[in-house]
Amino acid sequence: MKKLQIDFNNMLSSSIGEHGLTNEEIANVTKDTEAVYKALEEKRPSTFWRELPFNQEEIIKDIETTGNFIKDNFDAFVVFGIGGSSLGSKALFTALKHLHHNELSAEKRDCPKFYVVDNVDPDKMNAIFDIIDVKKTAFHVISKSGNTVETVSQFAIVLDRLKKELGDDYKDNIVITTDKEKGNMKRIADENSFKTFIVPDGVGGRFSVFSPVGLLSCAVLNIDIKQLLKGAGDMDTMSRSSDLSTNVAFMYAAMYVAAMKKGVNISVVMPYADGLLFTAEWYAQLWAESLGKQVDNDGNTVNYGQTPVRAVGVTDQHSQVQLYNEGPFDKIITFIKVANTATKFEIPQAPIDLHDANYLQGQSLNKLILAELDATEYAVTSHGKMNMMITLDKMDEYTFGMLLSFYEVATAAAGEYLKIDAFDQPGVEAGKIATFALMGRDGYDDARKELSKKVDKNTAFVFDC
Ligand code: PA5
Repeated sequence: MKKLQIDFNNMLSSSIGEHGLTNEEIANVTKDTEAVYKALEEKRPSTFWRELPFNQEEIIKDIETTGNFIKDNFDAFVVFGIGGSSLGSKALFTALKHLHHNELSAEKRDCPKFYVVDNVDPDKMNAIFDIIDVKKTAFHVISKSGNTVETVSQFAIVLDRLKKELGDDYKDNIVITTDKEKGNMKRIADENSFKTFIVPDGVGGRFSVFSPVGLLSCAVLNIDIKQLLKGAGDMDTMSRSSDLSTNVAFMYAAMYVAAMKKGVNISVVMPYADGLLFTAEWYAQLWAESLGKQVDNDGNTVNYGQTPVRAVGVTDQHSQVQLYNEGPFDKIITFIKVANTATKFEIPQAPIDLHDANYLQGQSLNKLILAELDATEYAVTSHGKMNMMITLDKMDEYTFGMLLSFYEVATAAAGEYLKIDAFDQPGVEAGKIATFALMGRDGYDDARKELSKKVDKNTAFVFDC
């Protein structure tokens, strides 16, 4: 194999029997591939995220300069943001850094500690301030819209803490990434001369990992940005064709849409690598928020979508795999394998007799995890359940860039095959508006009135224990 291998065989009826996809079901979707390709090429100016691997030379210099300043001056780097503004950094950090990065000695770490705070849970917020020294911490506040209530609240809290600790001398502790003109955050950044990066037009939150949203974290964490973008760019280039024998991202989209049309409503992503757990989370947002749509492009009610589930092998073999094998035929499982892990870990000879487990001695955890993956793939396949395998030769920046880009293009293509808008999120906006109204923001009186209309609860279904 080269860097990345994607194998759809176990989605086919020829492999798994009656619940797999037939040639006819696949052809019924792939017949639209030329139109999907043209639509995405036409959308390239408005889907600027596809250009990010190719045209950020100047921005990258600025990101690296800022990253170096942070590394030289701070002990910790905290990302404040939510959804697309935080999940990319989480995925990059866990995939490409030591799995206990923050617990390593400063010498071994060779870059700041790293935290992502993407919730407004008061206990979590309190906990982060218990372990960092705000004076020695740089905060990257990310909000494309500049209005997201969670991120703005976090920002207000950290400004207060910094002011108390550093007086007026706290500007260097803040970096803001936001839209070039819209929203509150840009105004605040300009008025206060905070270091600012821009999320370009045509780069929605969940498609922003290759913009400063994800790349500043890379610069601070010594993740090779150029290799990451090279992998992403090479995958994007491979996706600029309507030939499904080479365009694997479109093939994924077509296969998954064919499965959705067959009623397969769940997409499980199960990497056999702890470092990829947040990649599964990142994928979950991308797939759910992009494809979970009530109406299609013609305004027809369709209620499309496929529920993403994150699992991790081998851990979830002991929780979810029973369901995957014997439960309903409503899911596709994507296994992700890392063929060559960074570490080789032997199972040594034990100083005592291990009886039935003696056979393990002298073998390795590397062999064990891959054997368990093969075994689970075999079991799921023999139960006639759709599954597929993504194999990464190794977890490096180039390959990881390919993987993320693959999922981004596949998601956009799936939106086109389904004839829906993969780039909006009206269902999320409704919740955002309701929160503004409940928190007393000006201009949301109508929404407040609407929300105050209470439906009487049936007390027989409410239990106070
Ligand atoms: O993908 C999206 O658009 C969302 O998940 C956003 O990233 C999320 O809602 C945060 O938005 P913002 O960056 O505007 O604060």
